[in-house]
Amino acid sequence: MTNAITDFLQIRRSTLISKMTSEPLPEADIETILACGVRVPDHAVLGPWQIQVIQGEGRAYLGTHILRPEFAANNQDATPEGLAFEEERFLRAGAIFAVLFTPKEHPKIPEWEMVLSAGAVAMNITTAAQALGYGAQWVTEWYSYNDKMLAALGGTVGSDKIAGFIYVGEKSEAPTERRRPPRENVIGFYTPPVA
Ligand SMILES: Cc1cc2nc3c(=O)[nH]c(=O)nc-3n(C[C@H](O)[C@H](O)[C@H](O)COP(=O)(O)O)c2cc1C
Repeated sequence: MTNAITDFLQIRRSTLISKMTSEPLPEADIETILACGVRVPDHAVLGPWQIQVIQGEGRAYLGTHILRPEFAANNQDATPEGLAFEEERFLRAGAIFAVLFTPKEHPKIPEWEMVLSAGAVAMNITTAAQALGYGAQWVTEWYSYNDKMLAALGGTVGSDKIAGFIYVGEKSEAPTERRRPPRENVIGFYTPPVA
């Protein structure tokens, strides 16, 4: 049995950020992607994640106020070209969906399950954008591990983390196929031990 969704899931592919354009996304598409992003398994409805949509002027603002100065502070030998590239990182796509992992205290739900739920948000955003025909790529790069970026996106330093940034834009070039782990390495069909 197959259907359009399972057919799509077997062929979907990320598009490198360098192969997408920075045209803004229509608001309706942003809304569709967000609606898919928040519809994920979440044990006890804790909502241990946040999504920040970075688009329009917000892309350049974060470049000037976080990406460039933070890269400069951590890379003393950065060249002017390198700094310019860092400043313009978010201008590489029409919209960037930052997914924050925001764990909650709970007597029964371990933090690990909240981590998994945040990953599901990031994957749903990636899949939804690709299903709409956009190029999308989930990256962490260096600034997912930067406290100033985390704080700028509304995260609490010390407890929250950045699960990644999903860049979304029109494709300027179709992606080629990617090497995948051999199925036999990653899939098994459980058989109970013979008594
Ligand atoms: C958590 C996470 C972080 C990632 N960070 C990066 C990154 O910083 N740079 C990069 O080139 N790819 C990164 N990737 C890999 C790509 O986003 C993606 O997995 C790869 O292009 C293949 O994706 P596909 O299966 O959708 O084709 C990351 C993947 C994950 C799951």
